[in-house]
Formats: sequence, C-alpha cells, structure tokens
Amino acid sequence: GKVAVVYGGFSAEREISLISGETVYQALIGAGVDAHKVDPKTDGLNALSEQGFDRVWNALHGRGGEDGVIQGFLELHQIPYTGCGVMASAIAMDKLRTKLLWSAQDLPVAKHRMVTTGDLSLQEAEALLAELNGCVMVKPIHEGSSVGMARADSAELLQKAVADAKQFDTDIMLEQWIQGDEYTVSILNGKALPSIRVKTPHTFYDFTAKYKSNSTEYHCPSGLSEVDEKNLAELSEKAFKSLGCYGWGRVDFMREQHTGQWLLLEVNTVPGMTQTSLVPKAAKVQGMSFEQLVLSVLDTSFG
Ligand code: DAL
Ligand code: MG
Repeated sequence: GKVAVVYGGFSAEREISLISGETVYQALIGAGVDAHKVDPKTDGLNALSEQGFDRVWNALHGRGGEDGVIQGFLELHQIPYTGCGVMASAIAMDKLRTKLLWSAQDLPVAKHRMVTTGDLSLQEAEALLAELNGCVMVKPIHEGSSVGMARADSAELLQKAVADAKQFDTDIMLEQWIQGDEYTVSILNGKALPSIRVKTPHTFYDFTAKYKSNSTEYHCPSGLSEVDEKNLAELSEKAFKSLGCYGWGRVDFMREQHTGQWLLLEVNTVPGMTQTSLVPKAAKVQGMSFEQLVLSVLDTSFG
C-alpha cells in the first residue's frame, strides 16, 4: 500500500527529524515501497488525511510528533502508524512521569528534583544542589537530542542552566549527576537488540556529540559480559513495556562507575534514524540492514 513518511514537524528536533525521515524514505523507495514524504510544517496535515495513505512511518521527533499528538490524529483518521500509541508516547516524552512510573515498579532511576517556578534564587539553587550530592544534570522534561541540557556543580551554574533550559520547557528536571558510562538498548518488536556503549570526550553525550562529532565512539557489541548483556536486555524490555510501549524504540541508560548499577534515563519512542543514529547500528550487529530495519518497523504499525 501507500506509505507516508511523516517527518520534520514543529519541534526543537525538526532538523534531526528531516534527516531521519529522508533516510527512512530513501530506504523505503529502495525496497520498492510506494512512499511519500509529508512534513506537517510545510505540507499541513490534510496531506495525511486526504491522500489515501494505508500506513504512516512516523519519523517525527519531539513534541507534536513523539508525544501522542500526531498519534491521536492518526487514530481519529484510522491510519495505522509505526511506534507506540497515544498514552505511551505521551508518557515517554515526559521524563518526570516516566521516572515516576519506573520508581513505582522498583526500576532503577537517579534521584531528582523538579523546578517548575520562575528563576531560581541563589539560596534555592544551593539547597537543591545539596540535596543532589552537589552536581546535577539539568534537563527540560519534554525534549530530546539533549536540547537544553547542561551539567551544573555550583549554585551559579545551576541558576544559569535552569534559565537556559526554561527557554525550551516550563518544567525542568535536576537529576543527580551520574558518574559512569552511557549505554543504550534498541527495541524492535518488543525485543532488545544488542546494547551499544557510547563514549564521548564531551562532558556528556550532548547535541554536538550526537550529530556533529567525529570523536564520539560507538561500541556495539558493547563489551558487557554475557550475563550483564542478558540482564540489561531484560531490564530494557521491562522498562519499555512498563510505560505501555510497544513496537520499536530505544531505552537509554547510565552505568554507575563504582557500583556497576544500571540507572534508567528515558525511552525514545521515535529514535533517530540518521546515518549516525543508534538503532541502525544495533540492527546491523544483529545482521539487519538499514532497509530491513525500516521495513521491520513498518511491520509493527497497526491501528
Ligand atoms: N531524540 C533523538 C532523535 C533520539 O533519541 O535518537
Ligand atoms: Mg530522548
């Protein structure tokens, strides 16, 4: 049937989504699928509802595309789409609610505090830092690709980081800084693919390290022992399903350096599909080409 690749959109991750969508589109065309590109920002949504698409391959990252909004639109128009449904998409786009659900199920997460008011006073910043071991990661709760994120280990830096993050979101999460390594587990058809360890000379895996750097290292296989890999896969599948997610996605982790403990960061329900993105790397190690991955994700669409 006729497939729409929905990409671009209105979020802060628009530029990444344009690349993901284009890459997915080329793969579908290469596989002989009747695919068409639709960018809600430039083409509008009527293009989706009126052109008789049988399925949507959703490549929209961030708000409006990964958070249940477009999913609700597609459900109302009875067009099957790739990825999670309305509820799981909305929860996974919200780092706070994600964390609350995981904590309630005794899944491991770092300690956090929220800032939902205006500017932080110096005293407030000092108090928050003291509660979180003196060093935090500042995160807008509804963003992706590390947009608006910064590390802060002094009250002044925290004030500035929160003010910067507020440009992207009204709700800001302060997460206790985790000293350790970053891992990610891709999920396809509800099953974990081999984990990837990401290593960057940057302070953390920020926007530049993700998309613009040659110095980011991706290790897949990640070098974990067989037992650790199996445990991580189980934890990933559990964390994914506990939010109501299905189909495909990616679960991000930190591994605490000294204790070796896994700490869940978040789930991405529309993971990046650019040439440097993570899910395609994991699929490749599993013996799956980019084209096979794109078709396999398409198969997970229903509605
Ligand atoms: N939010 C970006 C696209 C990712 O998780 O890959
Ligand atoms: Mg994300």
